[in-house]
Amino acid sequence: MIEILRTRSVVRTLLRLSVMVILFAGCSAHGVASIPNAAAATFEIGEQAFLLNGEPLQIRCGEIHYARVPREYWKHRIEMVRATGMNAVCVYLFWNFHERREGEFTWQDQADVAEFCRLAQEAGLWVILRPGPYSCAEWEMGGLPWWLLKHEDIALRSRDSRFVEATRRYFEQVGEQLAPLQVTQGGPILMVQVENEYGFYGDDAAYMGEMKQALLDAGFEVPLFACNPPYSIARGFDPDLFQVVNFGSDPDSAFAALREFQPTGPLMCGEFYPAWFDTWGNPHHDGDPSTYIPTLDKMTAMGASYSIYMVHGGTTFGFWAGADRPFKPDTSSYDYDAPVSEAGWTTDAFFMLRDMVQQHLPDGQRIPEPPARNPVISIPAISFSQQAAVLENLPESIQHTEPQTFETLDVYRAGMVYETKLAPGSAGTLRAEAINDFSWVYLDGVFLGVTDRRSRSFEVPLPERSAESRLQIFVWSMGRINFGPEIHDRKGMHGPVTLISESGESTELLDWAHYPLTLEQSYREQLSYRNVSDDQSAQPRFWRATFDLDKTGDSFLDLSRWGKGVVWVNGHALGRFWNIGPTQTMYLPGPWLKPGENEIVVLDLLGPESPVISGRESPVLDQLRPELDFSGPRRKLRELNLESHLPHQKVSFENSPSKQVVHFDQLARGRYFCLLTQDSWNEEIVASVGEIDLLDSEGQAISHERWTIAYVSSEERHDMDGTAENAIDGQTSSVWSTYFAHNTPDHPHAIVIDLGREEILSGFTLVPAPGTSKRGRIRNAEIFIGDDLVREP
Ligand code: GLA
Repeated sequence: MIEILRTRSVVRTLLRLSVMVILFAGCSAHGVASIPNAAAATFEIGEQAFLLNGEPLQIRCGEIHYARVPREYWKHRIEMVRATGMNAVCVYLFWNFHERREGEFTWQDQADVAEFCRLAQEAGLWVILRPGPYSCAEWEMGGLPWWLLKHEDIALRSRDSRFVEATRRYFEQVGEQLAPLQVTQGGPILMVQVENEYGFYGDDAAYMGEMKQALLDAGFEVPLFACNPPYSIARGFDPDLFQVVNFGSDPDSAFAALREFQPTGPLMCGEFYPAWFDTWGNPHHDGDPSTYIPTLDKMTAMGASYSIYMVHGGTTFGFWAGADRPFKPDTSSYDYDAPVSEAGWTTDAFFMLRDMVQQHLPDGQRIPEPPARNPVISIPAISFSQQAAVLENLPESIQHTEPQTFETLDVYRAGMVYETKLAPGSAGTLRAEAINDFSWVYLDGVFLGVTDRRSRSFEVPLPERSAESRLQIFVWSMGRINFGPEIHDRKGMHGPVTLISESGESTELLDWAHYPLTLEQSYREQLSYRNVSDDQSAQPRFWRATFDLDKTGDSFLDLSRWGKGVVWVNGHALGRFWNIGPTQTMYLPGPWLKPGENEIVVLDLLGPESPVISGRESPVLDQLRPELDFSGPRRKLRELNLESHLPHQKVSFENSPSKQVVHFDQLARGRYFCLLTQDSWNEEIVASVGEIDLLDSEGQAISHERWTIAYVSSEERHDMDGTAENAIDGQTSSVWSTYFAHNTPDHPHAIVIDLGREEILSGFTLVPAPGTSKRGRIRNAEIFIGDDLVREP
């Protein structure tokens, strides 16, 4: 204890001794325009406040990602953020956006982060930089490059030398780009974050030390900091780093948790959530500014600093959207219900935020007006008359005896067709160990069925064959998981594919041809298109059309009559669409259009209801259509089967927002874990859970990779996203809540997790729903563990 306190006071001393560099306005070697009056620029962590040139500075920051805003609009969006009243922007760098192939870096065009920082500075905003190496952010693999996964045994976000060395090379480049833009050198960068919520992932303080050192070696001299949710601060705690805390409500308890580690120094919320991101098939998230603006008001009044995550979310263009745990792919729209909308428009929350901030500013200081909205156009219906079937446009294949993952074959995204021959034989079942993420199976060109990682269903029925037949499995990947240990998310076929005959005999299928479909421009340009009328069969196809415009402007392509796939306009990959929603339109930025002829290419894996697209003047982000899901209902219909079971343990939870750890009296063994509630605190009939983790025999949390929700008695999907999967997605801010919109059912409520295989369990942890509302905080519950806790009706 004494040791900890001593090292912490050393930190504070070190932080106070931040470098002082005198610069003359406009004289930076890199031609950086200086912030007005920023000639002598020091920034330090004081005893009570951040100190800019020795004067207290309250940081009112808004998170915005340059990769999610078309470069042509950077200035506009930065000015929008300034018009909310913020005085800083917080910026993630996504490593994989800058090093797409190992050793090949890009810092140009859309990746020109230095220019983004200069624009922020010109607008009078400070910058807080978050270069990773890991970012999370609903971005492909949390910002880590896919090629790290080519090492089969690599441990990401650890001291694995392959990870550390690759990070160092990347940070060196980040330093070259951005170290000259630190406040100490006349630039806008005040602070740099090390890693991201590492306590959620691991507890190796030495790893955090390595990452910190790599940033120091890259030339960063401004204060370095770490962010974590309140109960993860202790994990991986590096006493040399300034700590900030991430939350979406209840600043008092979050800051109290922070104070246990950092008794003095400014209080800062590193990520304050006004709303939340969306995943395919789950309800759209709306923030409630009438709740969160007062919280920001309170923080502003108490002198705390904060960063609103997101003040402007933008769009995850192309193939860059990630996926949540255990497997919930993120939508391409990253609107986030943020104060500045996806297309850069003001919202009610925008004005409420601006008014709130204005009230705290000194007399006479006015927040600048927002810039004008960019022009918006509608696009009349575009009819598609040309199509090209994927299976008729396969590239060269790569042959292997056993099926390989994408990464092994350098296939970094999109799809791959796996092909082999099947001997004649009786009907049976085709079974794969795991296929990431979806697949469509064809026998001699005839569609047999699909596999789906969401439900971990990896089997399709196989008919009798009288002759040798060609088996094709078209595997489609979504973005790699961006959170938790599942970031080691290799795509494609895992393990053997076997044919199980009706008599139960199993034969491993070998000799696979792999046709990689990364869908580069060079591939798309040489597709052989045919007239639509020549072939109407439902199979993955590209569709191509041109359309003429008199004038350009932002538009929202209506994809609601299409299936699932990707859209390119004039070669720009807009992102993914999927008819199950909630997003039904795709943001098309005006600068990517031109007067005269424009080209649109759609890859639709399922096929459209009708091959027509038009552009609307406003988005549709909140229409779920579960009945259209190509692989059937979200979950199999199951019943609870507890009659013949005794609870393994009875549990009483505290009336507290903190994580609660339950150690079983005895180890338990089973594939299913059931939490059956008895009652909630405050006599509520609702039950809710932020997160459940299960502990193995060593007391370690087990991976959620194989997990699915086998059964839930009730879940709220009307007034909020209270989907049961939220209890196992690793995000404590997303919540499983029982239905409360109408006629709420009373306790007992049951949630059953299918662990995908038998596990030995020594206990579990439960994080209640966050916030002060205490809604549905469970009081008493029974835990069941076994292999038959659910049954099919
Ligand atoms: C965490 C991460 C962010 C983002 C949010 C959810 O707090 O730090 O990168 O993923 O969750 O939007």
